[in-house]
Amino acid sequence: MNDPLRLTVLGAGYLGSTHAACMASLGFDVLGVDTDAEKVDQLNAGHLPIYEPGLSALLRSGLDSGRLAFTTSYPRAAAFGDVHFICAGTPPQPGSHHADLSQVHGCVAGLAPLLDRPCLVVGKSTVPVGTARRLAAELAEAGDGVELAWNPEFLREGSAVADALAPDRIVAGVMSPGAEGILRQVYARPIAGGTPFFATDLETAELAKVAANAFLATKISFINAMAEVCEAVGGNVRALAQILGADSRIGSAFLRPGIGFGGGCLPKDIRAFIARAADLEADQALGFLREVDTINLRRRTRTADLACELAGGDLADVPVCVLGAAFKPGSDDVRDSPALDVAQILHGMGAQVTVYDPAALANARRACPELGYAATLAEAARDAHLVLLLTEWAEFAQLRPDDLDTLVAQRNIIDGRGVLDPAPWRAAGWNYRALGMALTPPPSTPLAARRGAKSGGQGASR
Ligand code: UDX
Repeated sequence: MNDPLRLTVLGAGYLGSTHAACMASLGFDVLGVDTDAEKVDQLNAGHLPIYEPGLSALLRSGLDSGRLAFTTSYPRAAAFGDVHFICAGTPPQPGSHHADLSQVHGCVAGLAPLLDRPCLVVGKSTVPVGTARRLAAELAEAGDGVELAWNPEFLREGSAVADALAPDRIVAGVMSPGAEGILRQVYARPIAGGTPFFATDLETAELAKVAANAFLATKISFINAMAEVCEAVGGNVRALAQILGADSRIGSAFLRPGIGFGGGCLPKDIRAFIARAADLEADQALGFLREVDTINLRRRTRTADLACELAGGDLADVPVCVLGAAFKPGSDDVRDSPALDVAQILHGMGAQVTVYDPAALANARRACPELGYAATLAEAARDAHLVLLLTEWAEFAQLRPDDLDTLVAQRNIIDGRGVLDPAPWRAAGWNYRALGMALTPPPSTPLAARRGAKSGGQGASR
């Protein structure tokens, strides 16, 4: 095999464009491949079709150095690459939770007949366990020396570049020491920087990705289930999360309570995992993931119910300001966004919803044209009877009551991400509410004490 290795990246979406630009920045010659000619032209012109901090600069320096280019041509890719990374998307099939593997199969079907020299095909897409073994058999037919490996990605939107260049771990599902050696060559820099490298079988490598996502989703739903208990007994889930997180066996990461998880990965991946387990007759093992999903979705309806309560039981024609549309800060992605979902539920309950988001407005408008949108936070908050903070962008987390005092018509705020300090808001006359932070003490508390602790109700009028 040539030295240095030449890499192709099949699929130039979120994962593929990040992987291609990051590999070029590590010094490899990289050819990105996509069937969408418009996207390829855009990328070759240095325009990134997605929002990802730091990636545009990496794309442009890769193009300028001559180490990175994009094409629609599979014959060019087959001739170019020693290692071919499959980075195609695996969205849910229409009407099902099973992953749609047509793009992954399309990459293999496009490449395999053109391979006429030894090479390694490396899957990075998130696939149902068992997929790699089938693709390996398909590729073995393509010719001598053509082998498959599985190397899942763990990129988070908003920190994808750092996650690609200095990952927590590298997982290599391989069928031979030769394939392991090639992947060690590709990732020599992060390995030298201390990143652990796990060589394993194909199935374990596939599972590494979905199991990690399932665990993260479970952690979030666990703390959100505790929030529901806190609401019932009068506890404070934010304090509880800090206390639990201080246990080094538990850790505080992914233990932030709020309106739950969303995005293009966690929800779809846990549902596809459940569906795959059912195919394998192992569905009992993953029954708890259904509950994880249910708890997560319940955050959204409970937030809408709380909004309705703050509006006095009826949201019809109530002006509501929604801060946040992206599924998380640092991203313009609104796929399965809890924030946008809550905004839609409120709209469905008759509220006049105005959404503001620093990055995701265009995507939100496309996904939910029925909602109102504002170009600034102030515009969204003007004359609102209720403000909901649903994505924890820094500009929202840093809000102080006097930023909104004179804009809103009524001082009601729901902190859907638990990022504001309730004390100054309540001191300024705001009715501050957050899921998992009950206002009322438990029913066992004597009535007089309960009355004394109660605050809020309808927010103060301007
Ligand atoms: C996730 C995985 O983290 C990543 O490894 C995988 O490759 C792709 O899926 P991403 O979708 O970018 O990454 O988002 P992530 O940072 O994991 O957050 C997912 C969702 O969980 C967001 O909606 C976020 O707001 C929510 N979340 C996260 C919580 O509600 N509480 C937390 O404590 C952490």
